[in-house]
Amino acid sequence: MSTTTGTPPTTNGRAAEAYEQLISHVKEAQLLGSTAGLLGWDQETMMPPKGLPFRSQQLALLAKMAHGMRTDPRIGEWLDACESDTELTAEPTSVPAVNLREIRRDYDRSTKLPSELVVELSQTSSMAKAEWKRAREQREFGIFKPHLEKIVELNRRKAECYGWPSDGEPWDALADGFEPGCTAKEVETAFKPLREKLVALLTELMGSSTQPSDSFNRIKLPLEQQKKFVRYVVEQFGFDFERGRLDISTHPFCGGTHCNDVRMTTRFHEDNLSDALGSTMHEAGHGIYNQGLPEEHIGTPAGASVSLGIHESQSRMWENQVGRSKSFWQWLYPKLKDFFGEAVADLSFDEVYGSNNVVKPDFIRVEADEATYNMHIMVRFEIERAMMNGKLEVKDVPEYWNAKYKEYLDVDVPNDAKGCLQDIHWSMGSIGYFPTYTLGNLYAAQFFDKAKEEIPDLEEQFARGEFSALKTWLNEKIHSHGKRYRAADLCRVVTGKELSAEPLMNHLNSKLRPLYGLA
Ligand code: CO
Repeated sequence: MSTTTGTPPTTNGRAAEAYEQLISHVKEAQLLGSTAGLLGWDQETMMPPKGLPFRSQQLALLAKMAHGMRTDPRIGEWLDACESDTELTAEPTSVPAVNLREIRRDYDRSTKLPSELVVELSQTSSMAKAEWKRAREQREFGIFKPHLEKIVELNRRKAECYGWPSDGEPWDALADGFEPGCTAKEVETAFKPLREKLVALLTELMGSSTQPSDSFNRIKLPLEQQKKFVRYVVEQFGFDFERGRLDISTHPFCGGTHCNDVRMTTRFHEDNLSDALGSTMHEAGHGIYNQGLPEEHIGTPAGASVSLGIHESQSRMWENQVGRSKSFWQWLYPKLKDFFGEAVADLSFDEVYGSNNVVKPDFIRVEADEATYNMHIMVRFEIERAMMNGKLEVKDVPEYWNAKYKEYLDVDVPNDAKGCLQDIHWSMGSIGYFPTYTLGNLYAAQFFDKAKEEIPDLEEQFARGEFSALKTWLNEKIHSHGKRYRAADLCRVVTGKELSAEPLMNHLNSKLRPLYGLA
């Protein structure tokens, strides 16, 4: 099917009709969901604080309506009618086959959970979020402990409802909601060699007598000028401001309603332009992905992004492979002087480039650099997997957490607020989410290697401020496919290889070793 209203490739009239009805229903559900997305964006950027109680009612109503549409029994009937027709699914990567595969998956997942469990999970997590916040303020894990125990128990029940393959484990059933097809075994296979090599690299970097300067990260620069600067950079990347916006929020994110209405946000600090620039380039990577989805299939799986991990690969690539590279800074360094004049007049190229690539093992995930970030994820993955398998009791989480930070990053966690209480994810009931961040870093490095192979002068182009070849390559190889391929398959199709830790390690070694004076 080539257009939204085109005829599906089948001679079976009943299946063709069922397919049309199914797609129009799914698109309507997506319209409703996108409206909630816009209200969510407004809540973070524009809404006056006292608007919150009414906004919560609006969002709760939309969530209830969307759930009703997703679990409508007619979806099951339409799917049955379509699946009985072999012509519709003959070509597994065709638009109808992809749509049917993914709608079936969503429908089965949403109807497998009994509504009592859904309600219990949502009540538990809204209470847990408040208690997590209190526990963090008081640096007292004991306050959060009973809530996390309940969340683990409910997530075990949730995993049992979804089920997992005989060679898998409960964690897989949960991760599948964020990264379809992702299993703990696969994650472990990718993470283990990465961890061993990263620990060795970090030891060398930290032991070196040469360290890059971080002076650029302490210079005060006027906020109005910072805003113009970051907007200019992502405009050069190819983020289309006729089809998107950049606003400010406490926690940067990228959302919106449609490929022609992408809303991203960033944040600014007077004395840290690198943070604003990094966040904006990151969100622009998400935004460029959303703008690159095929317009004719928006509202259906064929017009949606693959997974959180693949989405994150796009943000990380623009932020790290592009935005922290030497060639990128060769272009941007003179522009920095144009934009900020006197304030940056004394800064050398090495100071600016170095400051954007300082490695510093620390205990806070969201402030971590490109090299240490993945260690934070591995600790969380190991803990949630062990909790789900019953191998780690919730009461032992803080001790286990601190021991892992000592082992992987050689840092002493000062208290639980800066340790196992730092992230909101578990309190929201999300178990199985964290690895998508590191998967994103791995996919980013592997895709970027392939892009460099296919566009040999890519980095020379960056040094001239030209990014359209990379953007077009990503549009074609990744964005335009929607959910045609699952993440692992997309990786094989695009790069010809299984996901591995090697490209990321090569990227980190080749950039960081020279900066730290290592051979
Ligand atoms: Co992101």
